[in-house]
Amino acid sequence: MRSFLGRDILSLKDFERNEFFRIFEVAEHLEPIARNRRNTDILKEKTLVTAFYQPSTRTRLAHESAMLRLGGQVTGFSDAKMTRAGDFYQESIKDTVKMLEFYGDVIVMRHFQLGAPHEAAKWASIPIINGGDGWGEHPTQILTDMYTVLREKGQIDGLRWVAVGDMRMRTMHSLGHALTQFDCPITFVAPPGMEMPENYSDDFTSMGLDFGFADHVGDVIADADVILVEPTVQPDYTKSRDDRDGDVDMTPENYKITKDLLVNKAKSDAILLHSLPRMDEIPPDVDITRWSRYWQEAFNGVVMRMALLASVLGAME
Ligand code: CP
Repeated sequence: MRSFLGRDILSLKDFERNEFFRIFEVAEHLEPIARNRRNTDILKEKTLVTAFYQPSTRTRLAHESAMLRLGGQVTGFSDAKMTRAGDFYQESIKDTVKMLEFYGDVIVMRHFQLGAPHEAAKWASIPIINGGDGWGEHPTQILTDMYTVLREKGQIDGLRWVAVGDMRMRTMHSLGHALTQFDCPITFVAPPGMEMPENYSDDFTSMGLDFGFADHVGDVIADADVILVEPTVQPDYTKSRDDRDGDVDMTPENYKITKDLLVNKAKSDAILLHSLPRMDEIPPDVDITRWSRYWQEAFNGVVMRMALLASVLGAME
């Protein structure tokens, strides 16, 4: 197995099966720190730089919280417009990371351009973690989700997935890549115009993923052990910010997970994931049903980022 020390976390396409299990093992080891709301000194000599060119609540703050739980420091920006990277100067990725690498020991970057963290990794001498790039990938979110499945179901292999929402979403691409390493058939349910891009489905096929498509979640939910949902009402992820202009559309019934649907059709022990934020695709009355696991997923978001930071910074070799 390749070492995580000094490694960039850019895509799950290059993650091997045993590397998933290694990072889950580290996460499980560190989880009590977060659960007991303790801070440790595991990374007390280290600093995380957050470079967020797009809005985020969870990804940025979960990384920051993870670093603080491990005793490290945090610096960075959450709005590139306040820096030379985002204003009149539009400083290049290369020039920006050639500065940021002196301000810390690891960089987590979210960017509206596909491949921007990969470009940063070409120039930085410290690890780059992809916190979401355009319509590309969101590897740390799907590592969080896979870890949540392992913790909640006790296994990953042998579970059948249904993924509902906009298949242009970066989480869906990382999910497909991740599941190629496991025995997990998946059905994607997406509205017209939001189907899985061909380059990703070609990759999944070439890696032997057992996947298919459906038009209505109600037709396939009965078989699912894991139901993963993303909104179908989305901003344009190729923009740094996409402000709402007037009313937004509601989610069509085909892509909504209601309490009635779960009670009447879902397996009794299926689990429901959503990386959040949500629109109306999961109504709030689902929150207290036994299927919902998105708050556990949110907690695990901190645990997984602790595991990744500790691993790429060499604290868990
Ligand atoms: N799930 C997720 O990536 O949330 P944020 O956009 O708030 O980081």
